[in-house]
Order: sequence, then structure tokens, then C-alpha cells
Amino acid sequence: MAILKVSQLGHPVLREPSQSVPEKQICTPDFQRFIDDMIETMREYDGVGLAAPQVHVPWRVATIEVGENPRYPDAPEVPLLVIINPEITPVGSEMEEDWEGCLSVPGLRGKTPRHAALDLRALDREGNPISLQAEHFFARVIQHEVDHLDGKVYLDRMHDFRTLTHLQEFARYWLGD
Ligand code: NI
Repeated sequence: MAILKVSQLGHPVLREPSQSVPEKQICTPDFQRFIDDMIETMREYDGVGLAAPQVHVPWRVATIEVGENPRYPDAPEVPLLVIINPEITPVGSEMEEDWEGCLSVPGLRGKTPRHAALDLRALDREGNPISLQAEHFFARVIQHEVDHLDGKVYLDRMHDFRTLTHLQEFARYWLGD
């Protein structure tokens, strides 16, 4: 396994829509190794999610895992989830604002509106269909990662940048807000 280099805001790969993964490619050793590398990279940098364009690969695949995480100490746990070719459908019209950060936008976070609940359909790393409903923080992470696959970052979703803050100032002025 290997820790992959994380693309940073300004790299064009973060602004391109990613390509669907052909189903016959999913079970190949190369693709399975790539998924393992994504998981290792996400864990190395304390991410709660990682999308393939964030490691310079424009494919529609993302990994999500929320454990004990120093970047998100209050987040509810989500077991490791690999999603390939995900499709999301909002459930209801409720929106929620909460803090988001991104490994490709280091050192910053900001309050970002997201759908409170959604349906996710995707393939898992064996190519089997996944269908689940997610809400709140889990739904937020899914929306953040699927945005990456569409060439978007959380900054595009913010209503304005008045809550955009460096991490040191977040800890000093915004914690608990
Ligand atoms: Ni991100």
C-alpha cells in the first residue's frame, strides 16, 4: 500500500467531472490496490472522506470513514465505506449548515449548507450494488465527496465566506458555534 499525494485547490483535476468506473475494472488487482491506497491516504491525513480526484485520479470513486478523528472530534462514527459511481437523491427539502473542511483546501473550514438526508446508490469495492439512506453528518460527508466527483469543492456551496476560518482561529473563536 502507499500514501498518495493529495491534490490541492488550484489543480485542474479538482475542477473536472470524474469518469464512471467501468464495472469490469472494479475487481482488477490494479483498481483494488488503488482503493487500498485511497483508504490508507485518507487515514494518514485524518480525512473522514477522500475522493479519487483528490489523489489526481479522475474516476468516480470515494472512500468514507469516521472514527475517532482529531479533525472532527464530535462526529458520529461511520464504518469504512467505499462508493463507486455514486448517485445521490435528497430526501425531503431540509437543509442544514455545519462546518466543513477539505484535505485539498488545507487549514480552512467554513459553514456549508447541505441536504439533511439523502438516498445513496453506488457500487461497493466488489462491484455489488449499495443502497442506503444517510442523514446529518454522514449525509454531509457523502455530499462533499460526490461534489468532488463533479468537480466541486465545499467553498462553491457556501452562501458567503464570513464563516471561512483558519483552523487556529476556528479553535479560538468558533469552537462550539
Ligand atoms: Ni474534500
